[in-house]
Amino acid sequence: MVVKKICGIGAGYVGGPTCSVIALKCPDIQVTVVDVNHEKIAQWNSEKLPIYEPGLDEVVEKCRGRNLFFSTDMRSAIQEADLIFISVNTPTKTFGNGQGRAADLKYVENTARIIAEVATEDKIVVEKSTVPVRAAESILHILRANHKPGVSFQILSNPEFLAEGTAIENLINPDRVLIGGHDSPEGRAAIEQLAQVYEHWISREKIFTTNTWSSELSKLAANAFLAQRISSINSLSAVCEVTGADVSEVASAIGLDSRIGSKFLQASVGFGGSCFQKDLLNLVYICECLNLPQVAAYWQQVIDMNEYQKSRFSTKVIVSLFNTVTDKHIAILGFAFKKNTGDTRDSPAIYVAKSLLDEGAVLHIYDPKVQEALIMENLMASNNPHVKNRIHVYQDAYSAVENTHALVLCTEWDEFIELDYEKIYSQMTKPAYIFDGRKILDHTRLQNIGFIVQTIGKRLNRIPVSRTWGSSIQL
Ligand SMILES: NC(=O)c1ccc[n+]([C@@H]2O[C@H](COP(=O)([O-])OP(=O)(O)OC[C@H]3O[C@@H](n4cnc5c(N)ncnc54)[C@H](O)[C@@H]3O)[C@@H](O)[C@H]2O)c1
Repeated sequence: MVVKKICGIGAGYVGGPTCSVIALKCPDIQVTVVDVNHEKIAQWNSEKLPIYEPGLDEVVEKCRGRNLFFSTDMRSAIQEADLIFISVNTPTKTFGNGQGRAADLKYVENTARIIAEVATEDKIVVEKSTVPVRAAESILHILRANHKPGVSFQILSNPEFLAEGTAIENLINPDRVLIGGHDSPEGRAAIEQLAQVYEHWISREKIFTTNTWSSELSKLAANAFLAQRISSINSLSAVCEVTGADVSEVASAIGLDSRIGSKFLQASVGFGGSCFQKDLLNLVYICECLNLPQVAAYWQQVIDMNEYQKSRFSTKVIVSLFNTVTDKHIAILGFAFKKNTGDTRDSPAIYVAKSLLDEGAVLHIYDPKVQEALIMENLMASNNPHVKNRIHVYQDAYSAVENTHALVLCTEWDEFIELDYEKIYSQMTKPAYIFDGRKILDHTRLQNIGFIVQTIGKRLNRIPVSRTWGSSIQL
């Protein structure tokens, strides 16, 4: 069988871009993306897509209506498809067994039940969502217990390694495509069919096949390793601040070792996003369930270090501002968890903003791609309703910083590097502070303008040449 029709279930950050790129690269395959969220599907069918990803608009524009369709009619799309991608969310459980750690597979299970109910012909069902090891077994169990007579299913694991902000680039030119399947003639045939879809644009050497469980675990392992590198360099940033070493210099020095490599060694306010923490928690939970407490504790420390880093940064802001931010106006530049996305899930900016609100600060927030409603939703969730009056969202950075005591940079958007900091300084209350949580600004220049600058992993203890004091003081 050659795959002619694909159904992608879940039109989120993974399902939308992945299916769009498949449609772009496989004009002979019809791709239908379905979701239970009607509003989201309407947005995918409009000029304003529900997510921001560089290059995504162009891909969708080229394919939509040709061989790419967005629909809420799940049953028809499933019925017609030869191959079905499950790209629904697998968030951390918020209650019950495994609360706060285990992955909640209820959405995956729901899709499996619908597929079993609707399918009247054989299907290849592909887990694209990130799932615990051996989740495919549960999916197969549900499918086999509910299927129509004569219908058979092959389950594959094909985890997605794209990074938000560079999703289209990652999908078009991935480091590798991983496909896990059952070691049987049918399993191998299904792997081959999915591989042929990818071979439309990806060379065979980059398509790596494994058994199902290795593939499922590799996704959790990849995210755990990436997060671990961030926590490792962040842990050293704390050492740098105390000793006078500079974490950027340390990162460059160790990154030159080809065994270590230079990527993912940028110290910051901490990692965020919907995946790292969720997948680490899931890995820790799995290890505990497997009675491997030492392994669980090892990976738990990566999460703990990230919490420590976010709290260290927030504390630094408060302590620097004379240990009180009550009624002080503070600009937060950047709210997304990283640049080039509008996604705020688990963004460190939320942690920093909440800490400052708890201390009574008035926040002026600006992010190029995050809408006011989402910022309010993120900050109001666990806060009392009165804080609403202390949150102001702006449409540009200059308006946000006006009359503030401090500027706290939480996301590494390129436009923040280019801002006119002389102008910003003139608009701020003095002494004017900058806290660079991403280490992207020119700190010496900012100090020379007059700012008091604090960053991560480097002591910037020169009190700037003050227009009134006339000389600089070394602490
Ligand atoms: N976001 C990333 O960068 C990324 C990268 C790699 C892997 N992943 C993994 O991919 C999966 C999806 O992540 P995401 O960020 O795209 O999530 P998302 O929340 O953006 O999208 C999931 C979509 O699935 C839909 N959905 C849920 N249940 C459904 C059902 N029964 N039928 C139809 N639609 C349903 C939701 O409405 C939502 O639109 C997760 O397992 C995640 O861990 C995410």
